[in-house]
Amino acid sequence: MKDAAPQTIHLKDYAPPAYLVDEVQLTFRLAPTATRVLSRIRFRPNPEAPSRDFFLHGEALTPIRAAIDGQEVRPEITEAGLTCAVPDAPFTWEAEVEISPRTNTALEGLYMSRGMYCTQCEAEGFRKITWYPDRPDVMAPFTVRIEGDAPVLLSNGNPVGMGEGWAEWHDPWPKPAYLFALVAGDLVARRDSFVTRSGRTVDLALWVRPGDEGKCAWGMEALKASMRWDEDRYGREYDLDVFNIVAVDDFNMGAMENKGLNIFNSAAVLASPETATDANFERIESIIAHEYFHNWTGNRITCRDWFQLCLKEGLTVFRDQEFTSDLRSAAVKRIEDVRMLRARQFPEDQGPLAHPVRPESYQEINNFYTATVYEKGAEVIGMLKRLVGDEGYAKALDLYFARHDGQACTIEDWLTVFEDATGRDLSQFGLWYSQAGTPRVSVEEAFENGTYTLTFEQRTPPTPGQEEKKPLVIPIAVGLLSPNGDEVVPTRVLEMTQARQSFTFEGLASKPVPSILRDFSAPVVLEREVPRAERAFLMAHDTDPFNRWEAARSLARESLIATIREGAAPDADWLDGLAAMLRDDTLDPAFRAQVLALPTQSELAQVLADRGHTPDPDAIHGAVEGLRDAMARHLADLAPHLYESMRVTGPYAPDAEQSGKRALGNAMLALISRRDDGALAARQYAEADNMTLALAALSCLLRVGRGSAELAAFHERWKDDRLVMDKWFALQVMEAKPESAAETAARLTEHPAFDWKNPNRFRAVLGALAGHHAGFHRADGAGYALLADWLIRLDPVNPQTAARMMTAFQTWRRYDAGRQAHAKAALERIAAKPGLSRDGAEMVGRMLG
Ligand code: BES
Ligand code: ZN
Repeated sequence: MKDAAPQTIHLKDYAPPAYLVDEVQLTFRLAPTATRVLSRIRFRPNPEAPSRDFFLHGEALTPIRAAIDGQEVRPEITEAGLTCAVPDAPFTWEAEVEISPRTNTALEGLYMSRGMYCTQCEAEGFRKITWYPDRPDVMAPFTVRIEGDAPVLLSNGNPVGMGEGWAEWHDPWPKPAYLFALVAGDLVARRDSFVTRSGRTVDLALWVRPGDEGKCAWGMEALKASMRWDEDRYGREYDLDVFNIVAVDDFNMGAMENKGLNIFNSAAVLASPETATDANFERIESIIAHEYFHNWTGNRITCRDWFQLCLKEGLTVFRDQEFTSDLRSAAVKRIEDVRMLRARQFPEDQGPLAHPVRPESYQEINNFYTATVYEKGAEVIGMLKRLVGDEGYAKALDLYFARHDGQACTIEDWLTVFEDATGRDLSQFGLWYSQAGTPRVSVEEAFENGTYTLTFEQRTPPTPGQEEKKPLVIPIAVGLLSPNGDEVVPTRVLEMTQARQSFTFEGLASKPVPSILRDFSAPVVLEREVPRAERAFLMAHDTDPFNRWEAARSLARESLIATIREGAAPDADWLDGLAAMLRDDTLDPAFRAQVLALPTQSELAQVLADRGHTPDPDAIHGAVEGLRDAMARHLADLAPHLYESMRVTGPYAPDAEQSGKRALGNAMLALISRRDDGALAARQYAEADNMTLALAALSCLLRVGRGSAELAAFHERWKDDRLVMDKWFALQVMEAKPESAAETAARLTEHPAFDWKNPNRFRAVLGALAGHHAGFHRADGAGYALLADWLIRLDPVNPQTAARMMTAFQTWRRYDAGRQAHAKAALERIAAKPGLSRDGAEMVGRMLG
């Protein structure tokens, strides 16, 4: 159990390490409950350090022996690590400890997943393996010897030798301990190779359990595409002889970028057409890219301390977004990313968990792998690129790699590189890293004598611990359209730096229609009351695809709000505009499918709260259902034709073209199902030869109250495939009615296959409940109570996964007094749990304020 008294770590307290490490040698003698770890570490005093105190992190280690320069020592051991008297000169530390991977259910450090050994060390898991200065600014080359029965023994770097029961690996690139990895198990490899642009051949392998070989092809293709892309777009070449990826079933996150040995949640890498959806394939492609890209942005250049997490994560997310937009459709990718930002980051930035992209304090770093650090962190880089231009960005990145290779850096280093490369002063821009909250931008317009003026005002609401906000640099991409739909002023990036600021456009023949915040050029909320007709005009004519989508989306949103507030009928102009876009064959099907997606119910709740109303989840749910019915009626003639024309012939491919067609076809199926009682969906389900079509059909059936036979057949067919069974669990909760979602989830937790210690399975059921807006926020508090019960149960077993899911409660103050009381009671119940983890305690503490 962790220390009960919460300790807060502050950025301002950073001090360089007292000792640096020149070399690490590790030996693992693997055994499920008694693994021996022998370490031999060459330390040297750090001339830059203010103190000479020798401290090594270490948690839950059974000490066997320790020695300095061959002499046995008796260090002073505490819960968090050890101190010891050491020479004020280079010395060699040797230690032996015992650990128990089999009983490590937190999945941090060395643990076992169905008989296979594996590690997860980021952020602070290495200290559960041996004593070490477990901080990212201590970088060293590692040599690792593994002894064990498993046929496959892997670690970082290049293999240097192996024999019966042992293997040795050497990683020449200095790295922090969080990038250490070890895997041992009965695994099989899908192998391939890649020739780098300088002509070196890299052996690639994707290691999986026997039986999963058929699910590796896509991951391997994605890896090769990523390696090529990073060479072409960033000039970054891979730097070892081998690159290994391993799939594990029990993993807290999606994947991890350990040097030369990426470890993936099997859900984030394994796919076949029969078992994975198009969305899964796209996700796998981007996550493979993400972890691969970390080799330069994260590993070769790492973070000085965990406050700088966005240095690697924001940048690497930005890079994986660029990759996907190059490989697929840039417009559709931008829409997907903004939908995700609004669904996950905006609520965080506007609630009790708000924090800057670079936080200034934390209790548990695992709680700061957030949408703000990741997604807003990526948006900040996108803004930077927009401000300095493509060339400036390329120059800055070249300088970043040249100047900082092999170092552990800060956001200041990053911004200085941009200043030096482009000559810009980025001091005000730097506020994006330190100031939390989503800025609100309002707009006024004026037109006189051919001059059009846009006046913007920015305001960032207070966030916990930050009352006063300063004006930010906001790049606002604007284009102007003439009333006949021509673009009279192409996209121009206005640089807003003041609280209130005007920009003029001269020489216009008539008052233009503005298209503001094109391509979502900044992560802000645009507060502008736009007449419906103008939105409809932009929906039909905007030359910027993102803003065209945005216009449609905002019309749908306003229609829903009007229904919720006044019982208004669905907006007929929007429905007409929608039909026109759906009919337009020049538009990419994937884009048309995006136009059909309604705002999420949680987003509508936030809009209502922003406008001073108390959101009623049932009313929101009712309005969305009503609008979908109206869409089904309005598009009744079109939908069957479009459905037919989206049929894909030929072999399945998860590429942009085919998946776009399936997305639009499935969206039509959902509308048709509302009127044919699921007849077409039943047919699609019966005929489907891939998971994308099967799962969509099954969800349509469940939504219309049918599908129990199909659900049973699905179970029978897939009961031995964990990843598909996760879908089976999740779908039932997602498609449950609001009044029965909690009961459905509760019933599924009784299912013999509900292995709650597996994070994927836990998330499939409880995560799906948390994502079911009206089901989770049920008036009688049943949703809150069920989630709280399970989080209380999971916390001691796997605090990291439990704490992440507690964020489901972050919006609790939006709702009415009755719901608030239930949510508060649930949070207080979690808070009162004796022995609650540091992870959990920090989260509930922040949410209860
Ligand atoms: N470095 C992280 C994995 C990680 C996160 C380790 C938190 C320890 C604690 C990895 O690069 C990552 O960001 N993974 C993401 C997916 C990615 C595509 C954004 C994940 O696992 O969700
Ligand atoms: Zn990452």
